[in-house]
This record gives sequence, C-alpha cells and structure tokens, in this order.
Amino acid sequence: MRYADISGWGKCLPPAILSNNDLSSLLDTNDEWITSRTGMKERRISHVPVSSLATVAAARALACAGKQALDVELIIFGSTTFDEMCPNASSNVQKQLGATNAACMDVNTACTSGMYALSVATAMIKSGVVNNAIVIGAEVISTVMDWNNRNVAVLFGDGAGAFYLQAEEQESGVIAESLGCYGESREILAVNGWGLKNASNGLLHSDIHWAFEGQEIFKKAVSGMDQACQKVLAKSGVDAADISLVVPHQANLRIIDTLTKRLKLDRDKVFINIQRYGNMSAATAPVALVEAIEEGRVSPGKLVLMPAFGGGLTWSAHLLRWGERTHSLGESEMQLPPCDKTALELITPD
Ligand code: UT7
Repeated sequence: MRYADISGWGKCLPPAILSNNDLSSLLDTNDEWITSRTGMKERRISHVPVSSLATVAAARALACAGKQALDVELIIFGSTTFDEMCPNASSNVQKQLGATNAACMDVNTACTSGMYALSVATAMIKSGVVNNAIVIGAEVISTVMDWNNRNVAVLFGDGAGAFYLQAEEQESGVIAESLGCYGESREILAVNGWGLKNASNGLLHSDIHWAFEGQEIFKKAVSGMDQACQKVLAKSGVDAADISLVVPHQANLRIIDTLTKRLKLDRDKVFINIQRYGNMSAATAPVALVEAIEEGRVSPGKLVLMPAFGGGLTWSAHLLRWGERTHSLGESEMQLPPCDKTALELITPD
C-alpha cells in the first residue's frame, strides 16, 4: 500500500499586525466584543501578493523535508485570493522556487482550499501519478476585504502554510477524509464583486461587498464539520478517544468549542492559534498544523483530526497518521521583502 507522508512543513506570516484596538480606530467595534465573540486578538496584513507568501512557505516546507526544488513533481496551491486567474498561481510558485519539474494546479474551495489541496495531492501520490507534491494554503483576504463592514472586517487575516508530501510504504499522512458542500446555502457567504460574474456591470475591485450571515454560517460550520468528522471516524474505525490532536479550521473559538463538545473530544487536545491570526481562510488549517508541529504537539504514529469549513459552503475532515519525523531537516533562506508600513496603513492606503 502506498501513502503520502507529510515530511516537510512551513509557514509564512506577513509581519504587519492588525490588533483589535487598531480595528476599533476604524470601525464601531472593540477588543471586548471581538475577543468574547470570536477569540481573536490580532491578525496579519500582507504587503506582498499571495504568491510571495505561498512561495516562502513552500520553500520552508521543502527545506524542512531536506529536498531540492528540482525534486518536486507537483505543486497544488489552495486559495481564494489568487493574484491572477491566467496564468495560474501555482505556476508562479514553480517559477519562484525554480521547481521546473513540477506540474502545477490551483484549487479554490475558500477556507478549505488547503485541505482539499491536501486530498488531491494525497490521491495523486497514492495512485502513482506523482511521487511527491507541495501543497499550499495561502490567502491575502485583506485585498478583498470590505473594510467598512465590521461584521467581516474583524474576522480575517493573511498568511500561508505549506507541506511537502512524499510517497511512503508505512501508513502515514491522510488515512481517511470526508469532503462535502452545502451548495444550496452558497449565497450566505459570498464576496460579491470578486470574480467575473459582474464584469459587464463594470464592477471594480473596490466595489466589493460581502454577503455574510454570521449566525447561519456558524450553524452550518458546526454541522458540516461534525458530519465530516463522524464520517471519517466511521470510515477509519477510529474512536474519538484515540485522536491525539485536533487541529480545526480557526474561524471562531465558539465554533471550535461547540464542535469539540458535540464530538465529545478532549478540549486539551484541540490546537488553537486563532488569537494570533484570526481566520486566514485557506491558510488557516495548514498554518495551525505547522504551529502544532513546531510546538511539539504532534508525535510519531499518532492520529491528528483536521475539520475545516468555508465558503461554498464547503466542509471537510481529514484524519492523519503522523509519520516518524517531527523535526525539520533544514531551513530555507528565502524571506519576504521588508515591510515599511503598519497594518493600518496597508488597509487604508489613501
Ligand atoms: O471560515 C468560515 C467563515 N466564517 C465563519 O464560520 C463565521 C461564522 N459566524 C461567526 O463566527 C459569528 O456569527 C460572528 C462572529 C460573525 C458574529 O457573532 P454573533 O455572536 O453571531 O453576533 P451577531 O451577528 O448575532 O451580532 C450580535 C451583535 C449585533 O448587534 P445587535 O443587532 O445585537 O445590536 C451586531 O450588529 O453584535 C453586533 N456586531 C458587532 N459589534 C461590535 C457585529 N459585528 C460586530 C463587531 N463589533 N465587529
């Protein structure tokens, strides 16, 4: 049997920090509301395009695995905020990395993009199409944010996470997953004006308007991730008590707590970094897993459960069996260019 081991991991967080207090200088909101309703304290705002964040995260994952750019056979880039639609964004990562032997594919399932990308890469490795892949979840949601709308502006941030996957005989990597979508409810989370639908109306990037029914999304997020986790546990024959670590999508601490209770998971086993980054959409779950590894929360042979949810309304859960290695084999020298602006300056350019 062939598996797709996660043998490299990396993240790239832009340096500019937007705090709850920063947001309260722009909007009718405050730290107490944001913290108590979401668990978020700050988020990052990018000064570079998403492909730059993605490339640095990918270079770090590659170095962590002890591999060279020319080894890479496939790059799958999950995001909603691609710099351009044609050519695709993964080809830009290939070019910047010098990974000239890699096939390149983009995946957009909103916040679950990094996890859907993980499924595609795993399946292509397991089936023998390729022997390895870089999987990226990256987002610069700040570029499509409606900064006048407190319902959404406080919730999101920018970032990137990446993994290097390679074929392996021992059971490791994704061992079961469940993917789905509540397409009938797709309008309750929509970034109107982002895409070609309204091109004939002359809508510009600045005409972006978010449709966001928070409470309905909340309910769907819980039920989608709940059913995905139940399916994964049933499929794999694993009991919830056997899970060592849960690394969920970080959209709201209350969503995570509700899900944890429903699934009767031990709260101490749940990894949380929402306070640092808010919801980074496609980057959220990948960055959370990278940080869980860095913080020593992942052990060889143990089971990790990763539920996720996003626009579409897409939902997913992945069950991972961690491989042998939890330390990095090397570091990349690739860095982002310096940022000479504050986060507030970046989101209010004029
Ligand atoms: O990645 C997947 C996508 N995202 C999600 O899954 C998010 C799902 N939804 C949520 O996390 C929550 O519904 C929110 C955090 C978005 C909102 O929390 P809530 O507890 O559902 O609040 P609410 O929408 O019911 O609003 C409660 C009050 C309202 O005021 P009134 O009508 O009671 O006077 C809102 O206008 O809070 C007000 N409000 C705010 N107040 C201060 C909404 N946003 C803010 C804000 N600051 N930023």
